[in-house]
Amino acid sequence: MVQVRRLGPDDVDFVRETLTEAFTSAEVVVLGRLIDAAALPGFVAEVDGQRAGLLTYEPGEDWQVVGLVATVRGVGVGEALMHLAMHDAREQRIRRLWLVTTNDNTAALSFYQRLGMDLVALHRDSITNARRTLQPSLPRTGARGIEIRHELELQILL
Ligand SMILES: CC(C)(COP(=O)(O)OP(=O)(O)OC[C@H]1O[C@@H](n2cnc3c(N)ncnc32)[C@H](O)[C@@H]1OP(=O)(O)O)[C@@H](O)C(=O)NCCC(=O)NCCS
Repeated sequence: MVQVRRLGPDDVDFVRETLTEAFTSAEVVVLGRLIDAAALPGFVAEVDGQRAGLLTYEPGEDWQVVGLVATVRGVGVGEALMHLAMHDAREQRIRRLWLVTTNDNTAALSFYQRLGMDLVALHRDSITNARRTLQPSLPRTGARGIEIRHELELQILL
């Protein structure tokens, strides 16, 4: 049974460690910007009372999901976190929730589309450029050895 709640002060270490493990750094590259995903508001998921995932987002006119990780996979953690983000955004009268994922991350791409998100843009070689200028430590290869080069932008209108 997955339960989701807002991140609190006690979750700070979990958020930073989980993001660092998943993406090599809690500072993630998004469309040519380096964002500290651990410093943002968000939600945490728990399974059987243990933390099992997190979502952080950058609030604004639109909400951008910046960090999403399920440490327990395939039991609905990611879905529950995304649904709570959509629900809270709607309550704040936000009209658009969006995010980017990288070209290698076909699992995330199918996950987001299954949730009703739509592909709206391809940012070609945005990661290649960010590796040169912003974060040289960005891994060259991702899932299944695919070279990480582009960001794909998805959105859902609320
Ligand atoms: C992308 C990610 C967040 C998805 O999280 P998740 O918790 O595994 O996702 P869910 O469990 O909600 O859904 C994943 C699959 O499990 C299935 N599932 C969900 N609940 C289930 C249940 N109770 N029993 C069995 N299967 C279930 C879903 O149907 C889905 O299958 P599909 O992908 O074939 O459609 C996760 O894979 C992850 O953390 N990846 C690494 C970090 C990452 O890439 N983040 C996104 C960066 S943009």
